[in-house]
Amino acid sequence: MPFSTDPQGCEEAIIELFRATFTASEGAEEGDLIGDLVHNLLASTAQQDRFVFIAEEDDAIIGGILFSRLTYEQDQRTVFVLAPVAVATDQQGKGIGQRLLNHGLAVLRKAGVDIAMTYGDPGYYAKVGFKPISEADAPAPFKLQQPEGWLAQSLTDRAVTPLKGPSRCVEALNHPVYW
Ligand SMILES: CC(C)(COP(=O)(O)OP(=O)(O)OC[C@H]1O[C@@H](n2cnc3c(N)ncnc32)[C@H](O)[C@@H]1OP(=O)(O)O)[C@@H](O)C(=O)NCCC(=O)NCCS
Repeated sequence: MPFSTDPQGCEEAIIELFRATFTASEGAEEGDLIGDLVHNLLASTAQQDRFVFIAEEDDAIIGGILFSRLTYEQDQRTVFVLAPVAVATDQQGKGIGQRLLNHGLAVLRKAGVDIAMTYGDPGYYAKVGFKPISEADAPAPFKLQQPEGWLAQSLTDRAVTPLKGPSRCVEALNHPVYW
């Protein structure tokens, strides 16, 4: 399956993938919220502050993941947060999500990113190497509504040691509704 990185000209299709997938799984309000988030991440985030990966089949976009920079001003390490993640509803459960995540994490590792964070279902993200981390050890930009979903993994041979806050996310994620 071909994976692409930050494809130009596909923005609307990527936004629609997220809107439709989250509408199907969690309702129209969540679909619009996540569609708007992806629109903002693509429109307002500098190239050096984001990674976008998509999976394609027969010229259709069937999966997408975005990472954006999480800045810990008092810490030298480079940190990116994964959000959001979607695989088209009729393509779920075939391993596409895990393959896309492993591909994206490998690209970040090669790019010199030290730590990947995410905020979601610990059972799912454990399959691609994420482990729970406390807000004390990795302060989030906002107080987390579901701290058990705050997850991290090292992309180097060094373990994740506490990150010194405060942290700052990109503008598109800079709203408590996402945390
Ligand atoms: C979550 C999602 C990205 C998974 O993608 P996928 O391609 O269907 O997942 P994969 O086929 O790679 O992995 C399937 C495995 O994950 C498990 N899994 C799938 N969704 C899960 C979830 N929400 N929580 C826990 N486990 C989940 C399956 O049971 C399966 O386990 P197995 O490998 O032991 O059989 C996809 O279902 C999706 O887009 N859901 C709607 C949007 C969403 O919830 N996104 C994540 C939050 S940001």
